[in-house]
Amino acid sequence: MRLLCVLFALALASSAQTSSLPPTNLMPVPVSLQFGTGQLLIHESFSAALTGPHDEQLQHAAQNFFAVLSRKTGILLDNKFSDPAKASLVIHTEQPAKQVQELGEDESYSLEVKTSGAQLSAPTGLGAMRGLQTFLQLVRPTADGFAAPVVTIHDKPRFPWRGLMIDVSRHFIPLDVLKRNLDGMAAVKMNVFHWHLSDNQGFRIESKRFPKLYEMGSDGHYYSQDEVRSLIAYARDRGIRVVPEFDMPGHSTAWFAGYPELASAPGPYQIERKWGVFDPAMDPTQERSYKFLDEFIGEMAKLFPDRFFHIGGDEVNGKQWDANPKIQEFKRTHGLKSNQDLQAYFNKRVQQIVTKHKKIMIGWDEILDPDLPKDIVIQSWRGQQSLAVAARQGYRGLLSYGYYIDLMWPAWRHYAVDPMADAAAALSPEESQRILGGEACMWSEYVSPENIDSRIWPRTAAIAERLWSPQEVQDINSMYQRLATMSGELDWLGLTHNSNYEPMLRRIAGTTDIAPVRTLADVVEPVKDYTREETAPAVPTSATPLNRLVDAARPESDTARNFTNLVNSFVSGQSTTPETKSQIRSALIRWRDSQTHLQTMLDRSFLLKEVAPVSQDLAAISAVALTAMDYMESGQRPPDAWTTQQRALLEQAAKQKAQLLLMVVSPLQKLIEASAVPHPPPVSN
Ligand code: ACM
Repeated sequence: MRLLCVLFALALASSAQTSSLPPTNLMPVPVSLQFGTGQLLIHESFSAALTGPHDEQLQHAAQNFFAVLSRKTGILLDNKFSDPAKASLVIHTEQPAKQVQELGEDESYSLEVKTSGAQLSAPTGLGAMRGLQTFLQLVRPTADGFAAPVVTIHDKPRFPWRGLMIDVSRHFIPLDVLKRNLDGMAAVKMNVFHWHLSDNQGFRIESKRFPKLYEMGSDGHYYSQDEVRSLIAYARDRGIRVVPEFDMPGHSTAWFAGYPELASAPGPYQIERKWGVFDPAMDPTQERSYKFLDEFIGEMAKLFPDRFFHIGGDEVNGKQWDANPKIQEFKRTHGLKSNQDLQAYFNKRVQQIVTKHKKIMIGWDEILDPDLPKDIVIQSWRGQQSLAVAARQGYRGLLSYGYYIDLMWPAWRHYAVDPMADAAAALSPEESQRILGGEACMWSEYVSPENIDSRIWPRTAAIAERLWSPQEVQDINSMYQRLATMSGELDWLGLTHNSNYEPMLRRIAGTTDIAPVRTLADVVEPVKDYTREETAPAVPTSATPLNRLVDAARPESDTARNFTNLVNSFVSGQSTTPETKSQIRSALIRWRDSQTHLQTMLDRSFLLKEVAPVSQDLAAISAVALTAMDYMESGQRPPDAWTTQQRALLEQAAKQKAQLLLMVVSPLQKLIEASAVPHPPPVSN
């Protein structure tokens, strides 16, 4: 039965390829859904009731549900709780969620929507919270008003750990920005917020025991312990665990600004302003390091209720260790052959401290060492290979390789990454159980409170689906259709990935007349992977303003992707109607002509000047593609010399400029190549 339901869901998802209206907007796609006929109308009298054992957490979740439903529909629905017999939505739970949310707690739910009312049933409060999010996504405007379709859904997650990591060290991210991102996470059923609280560039949390950590390590940008408690409570009401990370023994310069005695070289130290891997590392050979960590971890373990405690452990270059004779002597006397052995010694000591404070240690790939107890968790940023190695040795693991959203990949590329693929595919069923899920990682070299939402959303929803939905849910067209809907849902939660776009473009343009900047911004993307660092006009630091087009442009251009699909269907002969041709031509004309407009604005803003060459490229290749369209429609081939010349132009236009990539080069190339083929080119049918 379950298999049939999955197959049904898959058939629905893939039929979205051919129909213009996707049969489901739901993201992540549930394990099974079966639509009936009719709909449940949402009007002013809409009410809900909670039945069965439940606690304040679910009460709060239901209040949030009303708030979002109200915002989404514009109907005033102020916490309308009613008698179960009269309620439009009955929420039934068998037991409340655990007092402190646990890994692997039951998150399953069933939702039945009928024309007369809806029933949401779940074994735990946590499952009910996931079901409420599904209900919110079902509500759409219809001809008759806002309504949820008649449907039966049974759902549960594929992986128990579905996280988002946010680095608040390299750029400080204020609490309200984190909270709205927790709302986004809850909407796509993510359940772990991994808070990367310290790194070379900042120590972002108040410590009462060691106040110089934040006093000297944060430029005044840190969270008080009250703020931390408020974020944890906010997350709990959304079914999200909060796992803190304090990166050690490397990535730790910010600790040393206040406490240089922890480091492996004398100092003094200041917080780092640049990006990269730096030499400072904790001294693993001195007892005072462990005494300090014992007291610090003890303090933080009380503040953060979650069972897991992240100690980082990545990218120690060992230079300070190599240069310190005392550390070299320690290695010799303890039989530690390499810096890796020395770090393993450090990890063992830290693991004992973490355990003493009743936490389970988690760290990046580098901490994997067979001497560590099997309860620790490995978070892999280097691939499924290290995850598989860890699982074979008996360790639990999480995948983040492939989910680095700072690398500016398109959603489909993250979506294609599966924790159980590649090396992990060969694991035995028992070993597979040790793969807990994954985490999207938002490293913050190039994000600010202003643009962080646009780097996280909507792409992270695709990762959330990979971690929640059955492995077979893989249709990319369906994913993109639902992602577009989800992006709009996130607007109602206050995420600013869409709403900050135009203000940023207005700042770049120096005027409210943003038409030509927007035309350009819509078809470019920031450079990928680590090219941003490599192509920077000056060494980037934490003080470098993030106000350029590369900071406003979306990681993935919908305009370019949709245009590419249009051109693909045209050149393959799939769609050569006059409408298709006219759509292609009007885009090309807009891109060609917008350059003239932009050129007249260059004196208004220095931020525009650097993108003028990109606009010129766009205009030039669009003009050429229009000529290619003319050739095709006249049934003539262009001279070979013309085609050769245009290829050179395209090659030039494909290169990054102002750290931007023009994403329509490839479809325009296809048009130009199609005009050059010796066969009759696609003509009107
Ligand atoms: C990492 O990217 N160094 C965890």
